[in-house]
Amino acid sequence: MEWIELRNLFKTYHMGDIDVPVLRGISLTVARGELVALMGASGSGKSTLMNILGCLDRPSSGEYWLEGREISRLSSDQRALIRNRQIGFVFQNFNLLPRTSALDNVAMPLTYTDKSLSERKARQRAEEMLARVGLQDRMDHEPSQLSGGQQQRVAIARALINRPGLLFADEPTGNLDSKTSEDVLKMFQKLNTEDGITIILVTHDPTVAQHARRLIRIHDGVIVDGPAEPAPDSGGRP
Ligand SMILES: Nc1ncnc2c1ncn2[C@@H]1O[C@H](COP(=O)(O)OP(=O)(O)OP(=O)(O)O)[C@@H](O)[C@H]1O
Ligand SMILES: [Mg+2]
Repeated sequence: MEWIELRNLFKTYHMGDIDVPVLRGISLTVARGELVALMGASGSGKSTLMNILGCLDRPSSGEYWLEGREISRLSSDQRALIRNRQIGFVFQNFNLLPRTSALDNVAMPLTYTDKSLSERKARQRAEEMLARVGLQDRMDHEPSQLSGGQQQRVAIARALINRPGLLFADEPTGNLDSKTSEDVLKMFQKLNTEDGITIILVTHDPTVAQHARRLIRIHDGVIVDGPAEPAPDSGGRP
């Protein structure tokens, strides 16, 4: 069994009496250490799929196996434990706490995952992570005192603080100019090759997707092979 395995996954949102089918029979595998781009048009289901893979949400049906465990059967508390210990997230809007130093932003997740850690140790870990993303000289800056690319690097350091094996980035360069985007994408490549972190980049931008080593395309909630046309029978593969 692969590290990540999705089997015939469906997700339907319910709005009153109306069913909104979003994922329609997704089957795929991801091996440890991959750098994958998940591409698709707006509304195709990328974030919905990421939320399930990231243990934030569960599918309506189908199976999600992560490290030999079927995640969709777990309680929300069990999923939160896995999420906090094994998974990091980076978002388009950085989602940093305002009026809070880069260092405190990065250390923040430790306060609910590693309560036994001393304040000094926590600070040390956060410093290490900020150095890893090249921000050792900006630790005391607040988000408003940092450039967009620097804010995203703080967010990456925060996502890494619990040493996750799996990192999701949903349109991580959507708010950055092309030069800064390139720097941030190189950072992901470095974390992938040097630290072996499995990274799934969610994007609709082909330039961003080119930085990955594998491309998964989603069209109307179905995985498609090849460039444009959806394959009607691509759901439900073993
Ligand atoms: N909580 C929800 N309730 C109902 N419908 C939803 C919900 N979340 C998403 N949808 C619908 O599911 C579809 C897929 O949304 P999703 O956010 O996964 O798309 P996406 O591929 O990430 O798009 P984008 O590139 O714009 O971020 C959309 O049609 C959206 O309206
Ligand atoms: Mg999205």
